[in-house]
Amino acid sequence: MALPFGDSGARKRRDQMLAVDLGGRTTKAVHMQRRGDGFALCGYLLLDAPIFEKTLPVDLLTEHLKAVSHALDCKCKWLTLTLGVSDALVRHVEMPSMPVEDMRLVLKNNSRVYLQQDMSGYVFDCQVASPAPQSKPNESTKGPPGQQKQKVLVASAKNQLIDDFVLAARNAGFIPDHIVPGVIGPINAFERALPEVFEKESVALVDIGFKSSSISILKEKDLILNRVVAIGGDRLTAGLAEAMNITYAEAEGIKIGMANEVQSQLEPLLTPLGRELRASLDFFEHQHDRPVSQVFLSGGSSRSDFVVETLRRQLMADCRTWNPTTTLKLALSPEQTAELEHIAPQLTVAIGAALTAL
Ligand SMILES: Nc1ncnc2c1ncn2[C@@H]1O[C@H](COP(=O)(O)OP(=O)(O)OP(=O)(O)O)[C@@H](O)[C@H]1O
Ligand SMILES: [Mg+2]
Repeated sequence: MALPFGDSGARKRRDQMLAVDLGGRTTKAVHMQRRGDGFALCGYLLLDAPIFEKTLPVDLLTEHLKAVSHALDCKCKWLTLTLGVSDALVRHVEMPSMPVEDMRLVLKNNSRVYLQQDMSGYVFDCQVASPAPQSKPNESTKGPPGQQKQKVLVASAKNQLIDDFVLAARNAGFIPDHIVPGVIGPINAFERALPEVFEKESVALVDIGFKSSSISILKEKDLILNRVVAIGGDRLTAGLAEAMNITYAEAEGIKIGMANEVQSQLEPLLTPLGRELRASLDFFEHQHDRPVSQVFLSGGSSRSDFVVETLRRQLMADCRTWNPTTTLKLALSPEQTAELEHIAPQLTVAIGAALTAL
């Protein structure tokens, strides 16, 4: 699945890519290379995200990207950046059959009709999710605008934000190649890591972030539902600090190091997330009359066995964490190879973004 901003579709395939997932709490970066039919992971990095008030200033992002490049010691100039859930809108829309270029223009001029809000100053990208019933698949984007409606996945973000990202990337010495909505990352990484499940089953991909989490339900490759829930790892730490009357930093250490010992405090903090996720699963299951067979968790909090176990119980569903690197070749240092298994679930969005761009 690709919903990149500013991709003409006629570009050359890059042989390598640095993808930087600008998370709310932690920046994740991966350096990937094309190797034969597959891809190699050549390096990765976790770094504290820059702290800012409302919008990330260009200078701060420039310095941050330079720090990423320096720490990874990577000569790759091609850069892909991700947009957080609050910066990119990703939604299904019904539109008449027309070329993608026209769709972008129609959305720009009629955002109130299609997206129920004024979105002047936004840039759009589209991907046909299911072509209009009567058109043949490869004719779906040709010819004059038809009457038949088709389901289109739309992504949009503020022009200004895209311009800022492009400028910061250039100032840091990169060639900005793709800017990808972060929610697309787990889907692309999943397609490569577990192709059979992706093709045949109904699954939920849940990325637990810092302030929020995203859930995407896929049915035999198709993205059916995509929601963002305003609960993430921050809620667990802040709630634990309050319950135990300790500092945020102390609570963070306890949450990561010995979650089982504070089970009675942590479990109720996960309940609202469990409830929201269950509601999404129920919605899908009623609409499509089939169960979601498995829930695949990614993001920093999914590194915790306690979190995975608790959600499994609360959702009454087969919840598991997964490794987005299983089908990648590894070209890492011995230290990075040793740590990868623990860190991999947190790299999912960055790996998926790199795969979109490569
Ligand atoms: N081993 C662990 N156990 C529990 N929680 C963890 C662990 N490692 C990281 N976390 C939590 O993961 C969170 C950060 O996760 P992640 O990097 O996926 O978020 P982000 O991408 O920065 O945020 P967002 O996606 O919302 O922008 C933090 O709240 C941190 O406490
Ligand atoms: Mg994230």
